[in-house]
Amino acid sequence: MLEKIRAIHQQVESIQIENGDQLEQFRSAYVGRKGVIADLFESLKTAPPEDRRAIGAELNNLKNLAQNKFTETRDRLETQQAQATQPAPVDLTLPGYPNEMGSMHPLSMVRARIVEIFERIGFNVADGPEIEDDWHNFTSLNFPPNHPAREMQDTFFIGKNPDMVLRTHTSSVQVRLMENGKPPFRAIMPGRVYRNEAISVRAHCVFHQVEGIYIDRNVSFMDLKQTLYHFSREMFGKDIRIRFRPSFFPFTEPSAEIDISCLICKGSGCNICKHSGWVEIGGSGMVDPNVLTNCGIDPEEFTGFAFGMGIERITNLLYQVRDLRLFTENDVRFLRQFGPVS
Ligand code: DAH
Repeated sequence: MLEKIRAIHQQVESIQIENGDQLEQFRSAYVGRKGVIADLFESLKTAPPEDRRAIGAELNNLKNLAQNKFTETRDRLETQQAQATQPAPVDLTLPGYPNEMGSMHPLSMVRARIVEIFERIGFNVADGPEIEDDWHNFTSLNFPPNHPAREMQDTFFIGKNPDMVLRTHTSSVQVRLMENGKPPFRAIMPGRVYRNEAISVRAHCVFHQVEGIYIDRNVSFMDLKQTLYHFSREMFGKDIRIRFRPSFFPFTEPSAEIDISCLICKGSGCNICKHSGWVEIGGSGMVDPNVLTNCGIDPEEFTGFAFGMGIERITNLLYQVRDLRLFTENDVRFLRQFGPVS
């Protein structure tokens, strides 16, 4: 029996345990209650009494050896596993992650640039509500009731109230400005406007305009042309050409649409300018005497011009954004292209 014990002793010593499965095999083969060592203790009972002492001592040795090997290996495997699942220790000498800066929305960039250009020639910035009443959005601006001119702009009404609308243009802010002050006025009014349009590549129900107004004694159409010419050169570069096309708006007389020479093809014709060499950026005109009267200003004493331009349109020309929806989708792949906040 001693022989047998020694053989097992050697086995236990030489066994290599590398993972949980092997450990479990080892446990049930040697340490467990049904293992070989337990069997040997069992057969100790039948050994000759004079040998029992020596065999018992050997057996106890073997038992301790197996038990110790089991606990040590279990501890070792547990620490190994814990180390494997723990994050690698921090290396403080590595360079840090850069601080992601975000970028300014292209429309905000262009709006800020427009404000900067007009501020330098003495225009203030004014603001007004996006939810407007009929008076400020239409009636004061010389849109007669039920006149087809109202249909130039597809309007969102607030609930069932025909008097409250989401403003369809920033011209409503001109009226608020004039009603609440005394001439001279020289201001631009950038802001969001709303029209009941199906959203597509070319149209959106929310977009941005910048309105401008200059009211004083002796303001002429020439001042309007000069101001917009100056703006266009500052915004698009000194080679830009500008032209005025006769048009109609209820709140200006005479009225003109403003075109600039196409930035993309420089006037030779491309699909952006529909092969005309010109692109429209807004409307303008001399403020209609009725509008001045509606705002408590004497049209005999004061005259002035007004204009309204689309900020998306200007942005598209500068950056060639081909789909209006990109401005409102918050896709960082698009927004990132406009550089970090400066
Ligand atoms: N409000 C016009 C529009 O939304 C744009 C406009 C045209 C504004 C002529 C003006 C103006 O101030 O004089 O289409």
